[in-house]
Amino acid sequence: MRNWHGEGIWYGADYNPEQWPEETWAEDVALMSRAGVNLVSVGIFSWALLEPAPGRYEFDWLDRALDLLHAGGIDVDLATATASPPPWLAHRHAETLPRRADGTILWPGGRQAYCPSSPIFRERSLALVEAVAGRYADHPAVVMWHVSNELGCHNVHCYCDVSAEAFRRWLRERYGDLDTLNAAWGTTFWSQRYHDWAEINPPRSAPTFANPTQQLDFLRFSSDEQRAQLRAERELLTRLAPQPVTTNFMIGTGIKYMDYHSWASDVDLVANDHYLVAAHPRPHVELALAADHTRGVAGGGPWLLMEHSTSAVNWQPRNVAKTPGQLRRNSLAHVARGADGVLFFQWRASRAGAEKFHSALVPHAGSETKVFGEVCRLGADLKALAEVRGSRVEADVAILFDYEAWWGVELDSHPSVDVTYVDRLAALHGALWRAGVTADVVHPSADLSRYRLVLVPTLYLVRDAHAAALRRYVAAGGTALVTYFSGIVDEHDHIRLGGYPGAFRDLLGVRTEEFFPLPADERVHLDDGATADVWTEWLHAEGAEVLSSYADGPLSGVPALTRHAVGVGAAWYVGTRLDEAATDRLVARLLTEAGVRPPVPAPAGVEVVRRRSADRSWLFVINHTDAEARVAVTGTELLGGGRCVSELVVPAGEVAVVREEPAKEVRCSSSNGRTPSWS
Ligand code: GAL
Repeated sequence: MRNWHGEGIWYGADYNPEQWPEETWAEDVALMSRAGVNLVSVGIFSWALLEPAPGRYEFDWLDRALDLLHAGGIDVDLATATASPPPWLAHRHAETLPRRADGTILWPGGRQAYCPSSPIFRERSLALVEAVAGRYADHPAVVMWHVSNELGCHNVHCYCDVSAEAFRRWLRERYGDLDTLNAAWGTTFWSQRYHDWAEINPPRSAPTFANPTQQLDFLRFSSDEQRAQLRAERELLTRLAPQPVTTNFMIGTGIKYMDYHSWASDVDLVANDHYLVAAHPRPHVELALAADHTRGVAGGGPWLLMEHSTSAVNWQPRNVAKTPGQLRRNSLAHVARGADGVLFFQWRASRAGAEKFHSALVPHAGSETKVFGEVCRLGADLKALAEVRGSRVEADVAILFDYEAWWGVELDSHPSVDVTYVDRLAALHGALWRAGVTADVVHPSADLSRYRLVLVPTLYLVRDAHAAALRRYVAAGGTALVTYFSGIVDEHDHIRLGGYPGAFRDLLGVRTEEFFPLPADERVHLDDGATADVWTEWLHAEGAEVLSSYADGPLSGVPALTRHAVGVGAAWYVGTRLDEAATDRLVARLLTEAGVRPPVPAPAGVEVVRRRSADRSWLFVINHTDAEARVAVTGTELLGGGRCVSELVVPAGEVAVVREEPAKEVRCSSSNGRTPSWS
């Protein structure tokens, strides 16, 4: 791994100078300096300009742009420019175009119109990387490489013949021989047995449900194919240039198909893009989940927020603008949760093209705007937070997350379409957020020993080794909660026999003999006052203590919530989809049992997260409410508030960051003063 050099918090955006006449560039650099921008990602979608014809490169404009940025003191995260091939590629090689499951060809005219397994794409893209890296490896502005862009965003699944061939190669590598593949895929079912590798295809549109293991393997293969592009580019860059290499992941509740836990070792620095979904009832809580997950992918270390938006995006049905102060709260929430850099898409709002209505740091209306004002304020904030860089986020709770479990649980022909992966993940994380407790979202292979509490939402597919690790964790004194439809299948999507929840049955001391999913909109009551919907199951306690049971519904009297003492720890199981209040109560009980407390108590809607280095700690306090908030802390508020003793006052909608020191008795208050407004 190459080190990520530099000091302070990175601040910037995608910068696309090629969209503008060169006269604008000098103004751009001046405005960047005014805003405190110190890092821009350049050249992401510039392949068609850099290589107007195969093998003919034109770098002059990029030379001038990089020189100008360097003269202005701005560092560059230089793109390999392979994100979207130029029109000439498909024109000359139509076989590089991706196909959907039904055979539809996806044509150029948007972006990312290439088959991820195409050897021609690979060859041409690596030739470009070689040319770009060869030219700019020594450029003083370039501090980092940005491979492609959001690999797999639009083209993760390609079903063309080239992909089919690559899929067969991948399967041979995985299974070695056809007997092993047939066993893993359960092909005795529905007359699917393969006698020749050539008979195997991607799960193209079929008369009915395709083989689930074939589907699962195709998803694994597709993630691996995207990853292969990252690895190939990184290998070349590492050979040709000294700077660290990254690419922008899309970790969040809306992006399912790239297994970023497995990709993390292929970058020198984990970077993520995150956009608020306007229709989400609490978008800042979803942001916190994405950030906690990004940190989990980054192994707990610092990471970079490569993109988010200053205000509205352009790709949702209704693109809601951010209210005053929201940009600042969003950005600093990412920093609170481990980001050491805050970048946006994009620097200047485009005049033309599909994203012309997407917000930017410099809006169409120019720099005398609410957005640019907030951009400048954020720049000053991030400068004041330089000392936070490199510190780690404090978290006593882990939530287990596995992309394979997500893929598996949402395959077709399952007991209920209402059981989705993100549902319980977000419910449990949301309950922790409301309790003021920070969690790392980690892969089941992570070392769990440092956590007091481990939550396991909907881990439908689980490997033996991961189930065993959870058992060891609990036996050694940990507390764990497993939610329904977990532990059901092995890595081949084969049922674990003997009763559900298969892999976790012994750990949990329960055995379920039959699922009773509920009809849409049906709700049941539990004997502790909770309500639940979506899912119930006929569960027998076999060693576990029953904490609550159904009071009505198809399984009246059957246990719904259990606790099993194992070694010196305890494993809890919830067999139904509890309402939000009951989920909060359950999480509160678990936190008490595990001895987990928030960094400091705070009013509802006030987010408090602690970052810590070897000898210092910082408390981030983000007030999402429209009332002033008070929290008990002593130290120096870094965003203009100065010293505070015993109590910090954070105005409505504002953010404070306190370098903590041991509390003194005197009580006083401090605030960073400004109230958000439209002016
Ligand atoms: C990202 C992408 C950017 C831009 C942005 C708009 O997915 O990397 O290029 O399209 O979304 O929100």
